[in-house]
Amino acid sequence: MTEAGPAPARVLAAGSAWGRVNLLGEHTDYNDGYVLPTVVPLCTIVELAASPDGRYHARSATLSEQAVFDGPDAKTSGFARYLAGCLRALAERGIAVPPVSIAIRSSVPIGSGLSSSAALEVAFLRAVRGLLGLAIDELEIARIAHRAESEHVGVHVGIMDQMASSLGAPGRMLFIDTRSLHFEQLPLPRNCAVLVVDSNHPRNLSDTPYNLRREECRIAARMLGVPALRDVRRIASVSALPAPYSKRARHVVQENHRVLEARTAEAARFGLLMNASHASLRDDFEVSIPALDALVQAMQRQPGVHGARLTGAGFGGACVALVDSTELATARAGTLADYAAAGYRGTAIT
Ligand code: GLA
Repeated sequence: MTEAGPAPARVLAAGSAWGRVNLLGEHTDYNDGYVLPTVVPLCTIVELAASPDGRYHARSATLSEQAVFDGPDAKTSGFARYLAGCLRALAERGIAVPPVSIAIRSSVPIGSGLSSSAALEVAFLRAVRGLLGLAIDELEIARIAHRAESEHVGVHVGIMDQMASSLGAPGRMLFIDTRSLHFEQLPLPRNCAVLVVDSNHPRNLSDTPYNLRREECRIAARMLGVPALRDVRRIASVSALPAPYSKRARHVVQENHRVLEARTAEAARFGLLMNASHASLRDDFEVSIPALDALVQAMQRQPGVHGARLTGAGFGGACVALVDSTELATARAGTLADYAAAGYRGTAIT
């Protein structure tokens, strides 16, 4: 990690947050559905110091980039958009953050579908909470972070990533009902570990059809006469929709069922649900790409792997597998070798 610019004079407050990997429940969160993420042992750290000149200074050691802006409404780009978005979301709640110097370092890879943006938002908001002594809990942090990204950065994401980053814990999976925001920490299936490999096909959500998928789901729900696809009771009603709405809705309805079942599933069944999720994301929701399919196949072939799928929005980024704990190292090595044999180069994250 290289340092960009001088270190801040004195750290007044700091916050950190995990990246996340979603085990099951993809593209369900903006349909008021269910998700089952966990955290990856990679994190973002934000330190706040006094501003030298009454402006906001941000520097990312990881990106070797700096930004200076005047306030929440200033025009920003790159990583600074997430910080300004948080300042605006706080301002909407009547919380004014005085100008500060913001130092960021992170081991969460960018564009890998592991929520580097949510980790940055949550870490920054935790640092601000410390600085101002705010009485806001982790759920509130997630809500503010979500508002920052969806309203102020402009990608109309669901709340999964922000809740996973603020409420998730290593070695546990976090079940979330994204309508009620009820959440529960659950154990991973017995004797299991999580393997995450980056496909090295980066993607930026704002350059993908993410918002289009969201819109297709909204139209499908309207055609079905339900507030959200989470409310569809009869899968048969979905088949009557025109393309592509029937396929999009079928994915969401079945994916919600998979999450509900997975909460208490044994490893073997959980793995089958992951495999089914990937097939559905590839064929019905159409958010996979050849590299992700190759990586998932490489994972699924390894002894000890119960199941595998793309994780996050799709279109690139990482894939996840549920693996017998004793086979993690061999499954990792075998996956990288098989993915390489298919003509790609992967990076192991866990
Ligand atoms: C991105 C979004 C999440 C969620 C996933 C797809 O990670 O930030 O809110 O919609 O895509 O499941």
